[in-house]
Amino acid sequence: MNNIAVLVSGNGSNLQSIIDSINNGEIKNSRICAVISDRKGAYALERAKVHGINHYLVDKQKVSKLEFNEEIQNILTDEKADLIVLAGYLSIVNKELIKKYKNKIINIHPSLIPKFSGKGFYGMKVHEAVIASSCKITGVTVHFVDENVDTGPIILQEIIEVLEDDTAKTLAYRVLKLEHKCIVKAINKILFMP
Ligand code: GRF
Repeated sequence: MNNIAVLVSGNGSNLQSIIDSINNGEIKNSRICAVISDRKGAYALERAKVHGINHYLVDKQKVSKLEFNEEIQNILTDEKADLIVLAGYLSIVNKELIKKYKNKIINIHPSLIPKFSGKGFYGMKVHEAVIASSCKITGVTVHFVDENVDTGPIILQEIIEVLEDDTAKTLAYRVLKLEHKCIVKAINKILFMP
């Protein structure tokens, strides 16, 4: 049984996609052992609660950086996480965790890294930059997490066309739907591909 921990900060639609894929058998022999949010009020925590999944708030506003990292590390150890998925997670993962879980932490980013990635490129900012650049394609990247932002080895990428009448909002909506497919594909690739 693979124990998947999902780190979140917001709505949790990628988390929901993982939950649904485990429940419908698209991701086999796996369970979500923990959902951890770094901020209060993340709807992703509600999603975990509804599905009876162990969920934790480690509120980065309330604890020191050291306590924050220690608390997260303790939860991952106690829950025996084999794979850690950053799904809309906005905090930086500290070096100790990356070292301990080498090639076991993945992140999903709503562009074709290295374009529109790195510090400051998250959420709607990514799509605004794509629209402003008049690029004709964009996409989704799932990659292993290393010490920097959005720079670890790429696991998979999928392309999506930028439509003539796309706004950042309409593009974000379509990219997010593609993310929901890519996160499941990437998990299966890591857990089950030889
Ligand atoms: C989205 O902007 C997505 O592109 C990025 O994180 C944000 C929220 O995702 N990966 P989620 O709905 O919380 O999974």
